[in-house]
Amino acid sequence: MNILIMGPAGAGKGTMSKEIKTKYSVPHISTGDMFRENIKNNTPLGTKAKEYMEAGKLVPDSLVNDMVEDRLQQDDCANGYLLDGFPRSLGQAEALTKITSKINRSVDVALVLDVDIAVLEERITGRRICKNCGSIYHIKNHPSKVEGVCDVCSSELTQRKDDTLEQLQVRMNEYRKQTEPVIQYYEKQGIAKHVNAGQKPDKVFADIQSILDSVK
Ligand code: AP5
Ligand code: ZN
Repeated sequence: MNILIMGPAGAGKGTMSKEIKTKYSVPHISTGDMFRENIKNNTPLGTKAKEYMEAGKLVPDSLVNDMVEDRLQQDDCANGYLLDGFPRSLGQAEALTKITSKINRSVDVALVLDVDIAVLEERITGRRICKNCGSIYHIKNHPSKVEGVCDVCSSELTQRKDDTLEQLQVRMNEYRKQTEPVIQYYEKQGIAKHVNAGQKPDKVFADIQSILDSVK
């Protein structure tokens, strides 16, 4: 199954992707994670993406589209994929339609995680990430067993540079301006499925499963 997961910063895309990846055996492709990996490794792409990401702005389409095109052509996407955080602009959505029809891997469903802004603020400011394996925690909703230490690999937990209230404001503005039209793009195609992502994680995933099982 070819799945998109959309939603504003802190909606739970990364958290739900981990569950979907395991249950439906699809590779999890997060453009945000790909950029962060490039920044960590000091690649030319990482250098270009860094200033946009730290400001909370979208990275230009030209840098994202080629990266996604390369990734979707890899063998592990032959039986499905889960794209997290892409497309985020109409330009990206149109590029994705072209790429996926060329390689015969068209999108089956676009999950849209809906959450109130007040909830997003709490989730973003309380989020902690493992520096090493990328596991996602929250100081209240999903704390690690030992404060500041990853349960999976015992590495240090850290806060993302863009996880401040100020950057969240910028990211929300980008989302409203650039990404909401993408939701309408998939609504028109009849493949957008909204999920109430303000619920507890188990309930959010149960709702996602009912949607995905009806698409299969
Ligand atoms: P990206 O990495 O995609 O970040 P984002 O969209 O801002 O989303 P987040 O990762 O912040 O949140 P999430 O929805 O994954 O939430 P999470 O599961 O962690 O993009 C970052 C930047 O990269 C962009 O700003 C842009 O610059 C650039 N970029 C990326 N893709 C791009 C593209 N296509 N085009 C251009 N630029 C691009 O959850 C958040 C917290 O809440 C966690 O602490 C978690 O434990 C907790 N939580 C999750 N679910 C629940 C729940 N149900 N109940 C309680 N707590 C929960
Ligand atoms: Zn870890």
